[in-house]
Amino acid sequence: QYEIYLGGTAGAVPRLPTDLTRLEELAEHRLGAGPVGYVAGGAGDGGTARANRAALERHRIVPRLLRDVTERDLSVEVLGRALPAPLALAPVGVLSIVHPDAEPAAARAAAAQGVPYILSSASSTPMEQVAEVMGDAERWFQLYWAKDREVTRSFLNRARTAGYTVLVVTLDTPMLGWRPRDLERAYLPFLHGVGTANYFSDPAFQAGLAKPVHEDPDAAVMHFAGMFGDPGKTWPDLAFLREQWDGPIVLKGVLHPDDARLAADAGMDGVLVSNHGGRQVAGCVAAADALPRVAEAVGERLTVLFDSGVRTGDDIFKALALGARAVLVGRPYAYGLALDGQAGVEHVIRCLLAELDLTLALSGHRGPGTIGPDSLDGGAA
Ligand code: FNR
Repeated sequence: QYEIYLGGTAGAVPRLPTDLTRLEELAEHRLGAGPVGYVAGGAGDGGTARANRAALERHRIVPRLLRDVTERDLSVEVLGRALPAPLALAPVGVLSIVHPDAEPAAARAAAAQGVPYILSSASSTPMEQVAEVMGDAERWFQLYWAKDREVTRSFLNRARTAGYTVLVVTLDTPMLGWRPRDLERAYLPFLHGVGTANYFSDPAFQAGLAKPVHEDPDAAVMHFAGMFGDPGKTWPDLAFLREQWDGPIVLKGVLHPDDARLAADAGMDGVLVSNHGGRQVAGCVAAADALPRVAEAVGERLTVLFDSGVRTGDDIFKALALGARAVLVGRPYAYGLALDGQAGVEHVIRCLLAELDLTLALSGHRGPGTIGPDSLDGGAA
């Protein structure tokens, strides 16, 4: 933060707020009502998204003193990879609705800051183009598990060839949640062809069309809508993904400890405790309340990751204390992108990491390794 204060002595203040909860307000002025409603909105009355914040705020850190925190190191090992910090950018699709530079700008920002970028299946840019701007940087691919097996197979082949290493399979979206802010405007980016780039560029997808995408885009959108989710899938279906993907697989959206155990039994490598930022199940358990139960059930067998509601460095600290190995952020970087492109995303990452580093130091920790249940008031329960 001294960089920021020193900038102040030269008359420069940050272009964006360092309190990331304020980015949403500013983005509201910048974006139209449709896009901001889509990004900010939650399922039902928004209660799940509020519960995510409330649960993180309810937990309080209990600092330790006199533990020599001069040298600190945020690095962690996640799924066999050495990461500089316990942070990754969550898969957020359709980013062209907030900024024309879209996913490639977010990916460049992640690469510049050394945090993994998780590219959404529903990105507005084909996965190969995003990979190209990332050089050797760590990139993961999020799969929306299509109804059509050939399309899934083709996505996995393309992702592997483009250098994505970890597969994150989102299971909480077999259909879209009830999202009143979008419903009242009848606003769904996909129906305007946004977020379909990976599909429209896919040979297996194209093979299912009567006419090429450019000749009949409406039919292509309808074909996409028909295969996007599949409510018929069950646990044994995971064997197919396990066969198709050699690298680590993480299941996204796990909230029940029994589902976490089923994930381990199915040969998965990790679970991402998440309620999709409160966008899917209305009245859902707060992700931070589900986290310690999942960690207790499978923490020894699987890598446990977390998202939904993280807005500050101390939120990251709390998630680690509750059993996560690393956390993801979604909306904050989407707002950073909306407000200042790649630089805005880098600003968000840098604020989170600087605040995490300070929270560690001020709480008596030199790194994530010593954070545990006793770092929080009342333990992790
Ligand atoms: C998402 N999320 C999401 N998840 C996913 O697996 N695939 C996707 O394409 C998307 N798309 C998406 C779009 C938008 C606009 C948002 C806000 C979120 C969910 C995302 O990965 C993550 O779970 C949440 O964003 C985490 O919550 P916070 O950090 O936004 O509170």
